[in-house]
Amino acid sequence: MADQDSGPILKLSGVSKQFGAVTALDNIDMEVRKGEVVALVGDNGAGKSTLVKILAGVHAKTSGTIHFQDREVEIGTPGRALELGIATVFQDLALCENLDVVANLFLGQELGPWRLNEVEMEVRAWTLLEELAARIPSVREPIASLSGGQRQTVAIARSLLLDPQIIMLDEPTAALGVAQTAEVLNLIERVRDRGHGVILISHNMEDVRAVADRIVVLRLGQNNGVFGPDATQEELVSAITGASDNSVSRRAKARSAAAEPKEGVAT
Ligand SMILES: Nc1ncnc2c1ncn2[C@@H]1O[C@H](COP(=O)(O)OP(=O)(O)OP(=O)(O)O)[C@@H](O)[C@H]1O
Ligand SMILES: [Mg+2]
Repeated sequence: MADQDSGPILKLSGVSKQFGAVTALDNIDMEVRKGEVVALVGDNGAGKSTLVKILAGVHAKTSGTIHFQDREVEIGTPGRALELGIATVFQDLALCENLDVVANLFLGQELGPWRLNEVEMEVRAWTLLEELAARIPSVREPIASLSGGQRQTVAIARSLLLDPQIIMLDEPTAALGVAQTAEVLNLIERVRDRGHGVILISHNMEDVRAVADRIVVLRLGQNNGVFGPDATQEELVSAITGASDNSVSRRAKARSAAAEPKEGVAT
């Protein structure tokens, strides 16, 4: 469960992004707490990937502020995002087919003061995968021989090696069957239980309601409601598509605003 006592690890206020004449994001507010899964949903072109790329240091925001652990930050590069503790599993996973699981986990991370040898890397790989209860037959298996769900697991495990505060998953179940989807959703819950904040992008409302603590809807680059996991399919769909005058999403917004602690009020 989310840690309600502490403030958000990540807080976006009024974040906008222009690509020339195109407004991809318009005045977005969002918060992520420790041990919380926040689902980011919206139709094609709603701005989900743009938001993730801003937080991953791939795109620069046009305006607005990002606070990370109560400090305002500029996430100018992907390296800076990782340094802060914001890890991303992009949709293409970026794994090397011909290398085994251990090699993929440590790809580009073999450096540093504690250069690991093969044995240490294998032990760490096993420990992490075991902790995640991941079903990988052998860490010496090449990626090419793993299933889609197992590959997703390896990519998620890799992003956890630097012990990030926030991990962002872009459509982790899009290409998976029913059993593998269930496995990845279980994995997401274990990642949350380790205390990481998770941002999950998904088009699948069933998946989202199964694991999300909060569901943030984007529509045409704008916030269009925040829901709990008890939101109905109809509520979510109407917020995503803008159908039925959005009365539901307005109510949800008002509810979440009322639940927010007031800022700057002396007690
Ligand atoms: N590099 C770019 N240059 C110009 N316009 C862009 C760029 N990236 C995204 N856009 C535009 O920004 C808007 C939001 O796109 P984005 O990819 O963030 O949507 P999305 O919610 O991830 O959609 P999908 O569900 O299809 O992945 C779209 O109108 C898109 O055309
Ligand atoms: Mg996208």
